[in-house]
Amino acid sequence: MTNVKKKLHIRTYGCQMNVYDSERMAEALAQAGYEETDSPDAADMILLNTCHIREKAAEKIYSELGRYKGLKAARPDLRIAVAGCVAQAEGEEIIARQPLVDLVVGPQAYHRLPELVARVEAGEKALDTDFPEEDKFDHLPARSPRRARPAAFLTVQEGCDKFCAFCVVPYTRGAEASRPPARILAEARALVVRGVREITLLGQNVNAYHGAGEGGSWSLARLIRALAEIEGLERIRYTTSHPNDMSDDLIAAHGECAKLMPYLHLPVQSGSDRILKRMNRGHTAESYVRLIERIRAARPDLLLSGDFIVGFPEETEEDFEATLDLIRAVGYGQAYSFKYSPRPGTPAAERDQIPEQVKSERLTRLQALLAEQQAAAQAAMVGREVSVLFERAGREPGQVAGKSDYLHAVHVVAPGLAPGDLRRVRITESLPNSLSGVIV
Ligand code: SAH
Ligand code: SF4
Ligand code: F3S
Repeated sequence: MTNVKKKLHIRTYGCQMNVYDSERMAEALAQAGYEETDSPDAADMILLNTCHIREKAAEKIYSELGRYKGLKAARPDLRIAVAGCVAQAEGEEIIARQPLVDLVVGPQAYHRLPELVARVEAGEKALDTDFPEEDKFDHLPARSPRRARPAAFLTVQEGCDKFCAFCVVPYTRGAEASRPPARILAEARALVVRGVREITLLGQNVNAYHGAGEGGSWSLARLIRALAEIEGLERIRYTTSHPNDMSDDLIAAHGECAKLMPYLHLPVQSGSDRILKRMNRGHTAESYVRLIERIRAARPDLLLSGDFIVGFPEETEEDFEATLDLIRAVGYGQAYSFKYSPRPGTPAAERDQIPEQVKSERLTRLQALLAEQQAAAQAAMVGREVSVLFERAGREPGQVAGKSDYLHAVHVVAPGLAPGDLRRVRITESLPNSLSGVIV
């Protein structure tokens, strides 16, 4: 290996798991002599870590790739790699459609990156979208000490067996699999040694976690309780969950485990039982509402977040209004909402589609209601004391920014505070997407 490091530029799209994967890929490629750069112009390799969840997400990748034509013409030894869910879903079609791509690698093959990159450096094209027997986590290098931030992601579960009729994830991430608790605890301890104080456990279906550990299969709740024993780890979160995997012990943990933050992202997608059935969600609107009541009984101040899809095939005005009713009944502090986007290979893509204009109009109405609820939840924070983990300097001099226990972005003017500091803050003002406050 030479002393002159090659430069790697990574762009990350999609969910938090991609953020985590990008870090792990950078660590794997550091062993192949690459160091990261923010500038695509300085890069020897550009790696796009992609998302396939909606059509727009996938199209974004092709337009980004198109932009590299000039760069590659000027520097023929620039290598271009596509990882993530578009890589898994489209495989060699990517190279057919955009020949300047040198490498296509799916999420389950990241541990093979050094090998694949060596082939690409030798002038070959490389493609690996296998779901290998071996576990990539056993073969990826240990977490690198350079990349400590106060709040970190940690993948504990990957893949999904639920097959919601709209969703590509079971195809791009494969079958549900859980990492062993011993590995997760070791990774968490290593993160804490480097200054991490908050860990968000990640999985496409994180609450279906069932890692093989001491005494048999561990639930997510058991894992959380074990993580909470780690001294120096102050906050634990997890995402994303499915309503049907919200077990009694996990609900209890929300009431009992002080380090488990009072925030839960629990997507429902629709409030119409007819549509939920056609989505293959496996729950009803009523069972979801009852579930939320039970979780709030355990943790009354819980801030709830969700995902909604409007314009799913066959959705009538009445179905849509049932979704609005559910939102009113539940009350969300924060939420994500999307127009249904037909994904090739999923069952719902074959059905009669709702006109674009209807989808847009419904999305506008839904988002107006959600924005109202978000503003109300933020306004309710004013005057309250919350804990804030500071993560970075703010825009103005002396300002620091971080997240409250409820995951609100909070900034305060407090010279002398540094990333990693955890302080009590009294909220003084609610702004459009953040809160400001003063140190108590
Ligand atoms: N694992 C998570 C969801 C992952 S995808 C879960 O089970 O909740 C994140 C969100 O994208 C989904 O909750 C859904 O609201 C949205 N989504 C997924 N597929 C979609 C599609 N085809 N069109 C529009 N939105 C979609
Ligand atoms: Fe997709 Fe989530 Fe449904 Fe799995 S549970 S298919 S990841 S929406
Ligand atoms: Fe997108 Fe794949 Fe995540 S499709 S949302 S990057 S699991």
